[in-house]
Amino acid sequence: MQLQDILYAQGFGTRRVCAGLIQQGHVAVHETVCLDATAEFDDEGLRLRVQGLEWVCHRRACIMLNKPAGIECSQKPSAWPSVYTLLPAPLRQRPNKSAVQGVQAIGRLDQDTTGLLLLTDDGQLIHRLASPRHAVPKVYEVTLKHPAGERELQQLLAGVVLDDDPRPVRAAACELTDPQYLRLTLTGGKYHQVKRMVAAVGNRVEALHRSQIGGLKLPADLAPGQWRWLEAADLALIQS
Ligand code: URA
Repeated sequence: MQLQDILYAQGFGTRRVCAGLIQQGHVAVHETVCLDATAEFDDEGLRLRVQGLEWVCHRRACIMLNKPAGIECSQKPSAWPSVYTLLPAPLRQRPNKSAVQGVQAIGRLDQDTTGLLLLTDDGQLIHRLASPRHAVPKVYEVTLKHPAGERELQQLLAGVVLDDDPRPVRAAACELTDPQYLRLTLTGGKYHQVKRMVAAVGNRVEALHRSQIGGLKLPADLAPGQWRWLEAADLALIQS
């Protein structure tokens, strides 16, 4: 693939901008400046430096992010900054792939929820993880307003009815690691599902953090606001 096309696909600007960056000496490939916009390279895994930014090329962008509080997952947020402002420009500007409009969050977390968020421009991955048929479990660490006990755990496991659907929704697993600290595993992704399930058993969520999706845990060394590429092993953990 030509270097100018690789840069374009990675989100470094229009084809014309990318050709200009190369011709002006702003692009190094594996540490060596390349001035030929039409030079051919294998794109996957190619190490670039573009205007000082180190970049490893990925044909599909699949990333995890540790979402801080006070951030909305929407592209057009209403009151808080968008989660997309936490991504570097190439990930925000990647051209659309078939039906997918650039890099998208897979599902949403509320503004005040922290933790593991996946983003991608891979339509198949979005479809797989969003589809109820695959029912990928998600683990939430919930700080409760009031101490809870066995009765609430049994109610959550048996199923509670939320206001938008008469069919009960169940926790796939739940445990109290402390009377005010609940670890809840859900396979569904209804709007405000954790908060509404906790409210349905007469309690209230004080803080909410997503720690795991499928077998993929939020890494302890990924600070709030930071992101990282998903490796093949990470993808296997969320799709198995
Ligand atoms: N359930 C909620 O209530 N909020 C979230 O952000 C995620 C799950």
